[in-house]
Amino acid sequence: MTTRRPIIAGNWKMNLGVAEGVALASEIRNRCSRFRDIDVVVAPAATSLYPVAQRLADSPIGVAAQNCHAEDKGAFTGELSPVQLADVGCRYVIVGHSERRALFGETDEGVGKKARALHDHGLIPIVCVGESLAEREAGETLDVVLRQLDAGLAGLQPDEIVRTVVAYEPVWAIGTGRTATPAQAQDVHAALRKRIAELASPAVADKVRLQYGGSVKPDNIAALMAQPDIDGALVGGASLTADSFARIVAYENKDA
Ligand code: PGA
Repeated sequence: MTTRRPIIAGNWKMNLGVAEGVALASEIRNRCSRFRDIDVVVAPAATSLYPVAQRLADSPIGVAAQNCHAEDKGAFTGELSPVQLADVGCRYVIVGHSERRALFGETDEGVGKKARALHDHGLIPIVCVGESLAEREAGETLDVVLRQLDAGLAGLQPDEIVRTVVAYEPVWAIGTGRTATPAQAQDVHAALRKRIAELASPAVADKVRLQYGGSVKPDNIAALMAQPDIDGALVGGASLTADSFARIVAYENKDA
């Protein structure tokens, strides 16, 4: 089995001004740059992408946007293209976050187009999938997440799937303080990896990094990361202070 490099990303959502974002990025840089065996990513609001990317430019910490449009340019008022996001220093873009699916009409097919466009410009998509509470209770979890996965990866070649990050975020665990148990998360991650093996190959599936997201905190990250198919986390609320985010990144280092 491949040893997958862990990846922890902080999704700041619609929080923090420029000065606050740059200050948080500086603290995260100070606290996290010494961890060399893990990829650390922050996803500021669009207004802070450029200054945060500048502040992190010569550090190992990557910058992600929280959304993009699939076209390179044109008459799409209010949107940002992968070209523009690469231009301001982004290396990653989160696509298909459940808030975008639920509140902004993002479709499975649209997420796939964005993932395709991001690879066209050398950016790494973080493709989010996840079921609602009603879907889980109806026993539809795997149907939902596998459908979202299929669509998200539909336009990608195997070498692009290898570079793509997939984040499993059960909607009922986001911002609720209710984390999936490590076993619940592992079950879904294992199913996602099996599907990637079918879509591409077992070798590809073995390399793809799968994040868990939904109320990840310093005190639950280690048990999640101990699961064989959980390779990282997408962190919302607990990424807004350097201390909690750094403690999540340092999950293996009790003295951090
Ligand atoms: P949360 O958000 O950690 O605040 O639950 C996770 C996310 O939405 O990515």
